[in-house]
Amino acid sequence: MKAGILGIGDALPPRVVTNDDLVAQLDTSDEWIVRRTGIRERRWLAADETLADLAASACSAALEDAGTAASDVDQVIVATITPDQLTPGLAPAVAAKLGAESAAVVDINAACTGFLYGLDHAAALVESGRARNVLVVGAEALSRITDHDDRATAVLFGDGAAAALVGPITEGLGIAGFEFGHDASLAGLLFAEREERKLRMAGQEVYRHAVARMTEATERLLARSGVQAQDVDLFVAHQANARIITAVADALGIPHERVSFNVEWTANTSAASIPLGLAAAQRDGLLKPGALVGMVAFGAGFVWGAGLTSWKDQAALSSASGEARTSITTTRSRQ
Ligand SMILES: CC(C)(COP(=O)(O)OP(=O)(O)OC[C@H]1O[C@@H](n2cnc3c(N)ncnc32)[C@H](O)[C@@H]1OP(=O)(O)O)[C@@H](O)C(=O)NCCC(=O)NCCS
Repeated sequence: MKAGILGIGDALPPRVVTNDDLVAQLDTSDEWIVRRTGIRERRWLAADETLADLAASACSAALEDAGTAASDVDQVIVATITPDQLTPGLAPAVAAKLGAESAAVVDINAACTGFLYGLDHAAALVESGRARNVLVVGAEALSRITDHDDRATAVLFGDGAAAALVGPITEGLGIAGFEFGHDASLAGLLFAEREERKLRMAGQEVYRHAVARMTEATERLLARSGVQAQDVDLFVAHQANARIITAVADALGIPHERVSFNVEWTANTSAASIPLGLAAAQRDGLLKPGALVGMVAFGAGFVWGAGLTSWKDQAALSSASGEARTSITTTRSRQ
């Protein structure tokens, strides 16, 4: 049995924080932030909002997109580094809010690569017959672990959640495979200490490693899968910095019009960034059933990974026209 993505959904907090809002408190400028990162705005949760509610909203949207009831969900996997409390994790509350009463629940932490690990685990559960419908949600409240007085990091991070429903498919490639890697010797370049609870990053060095590792991982995965870069219909790299995404796409030979640049409106949302990019692309009509999607992430650990999936093959099967693989013209999106 193969596993595939059946539905996608996202949720962003209502509060928009523009670059100009940050200029009022920091020695920075809209021009610098846009030129060096591509970011124009980000969303922040309010003090009385919970990440569990945001994650549950994203999951509800993914279930609605798939036409699946919450009662049919067998497992909820939440990828996050910023749960509302140290313990419990988010997954029990998310399942309860959804009404997924019989679902197994688990949080995982692989920083910015968390959503790809969640997809891999979900596909393994479905393919082995241990579960039928698995929700994977990337959810982050990075504003709560950002040093808002440090201009080198304060402008980079945002909050958000996005979810995919993974289930069995009868036709198509499905969730085809992953290439994961890690290097703990470089953990000191990007971390948050338990006591301080603020993200600290050696930006330039992280940048260099991010480009190299994401490029290598994607190259290995494509070679192993017998796929050429030009066959990829949409490439969704971790949305940390538009210059990093561009450098990786250029190294791989993927044209920019097939690359997601959602970072402009979300900033870096760690585990939520790849599914937010997928949800935005679908909303913009850029991800048609049967499309081939490449994904790649890099983050604290260092932990990185690349993944390859086809998009909603079941929907492609049931569509009257049978049309698949629509060409992609642009991937900029604002929710
Ligand atoms: C963080 C990042 C945007 C910084 O961009 P950069 O071009 O490397 O900038 P630098 O850190 O070299 O800083 C260049 C200058 O800009 C200044 N600067 C830093 N942040 C600034 C800001 N918000 N506004 C204005 N100036 C700023 C620095 O102080 C430095 O000034 P100096 O030359 O006088 O010392 C970039 O390194 C990056 O994206 N890193 C990787 C992030 C990432 O991939 N994370 C993934 C894992 S989550």
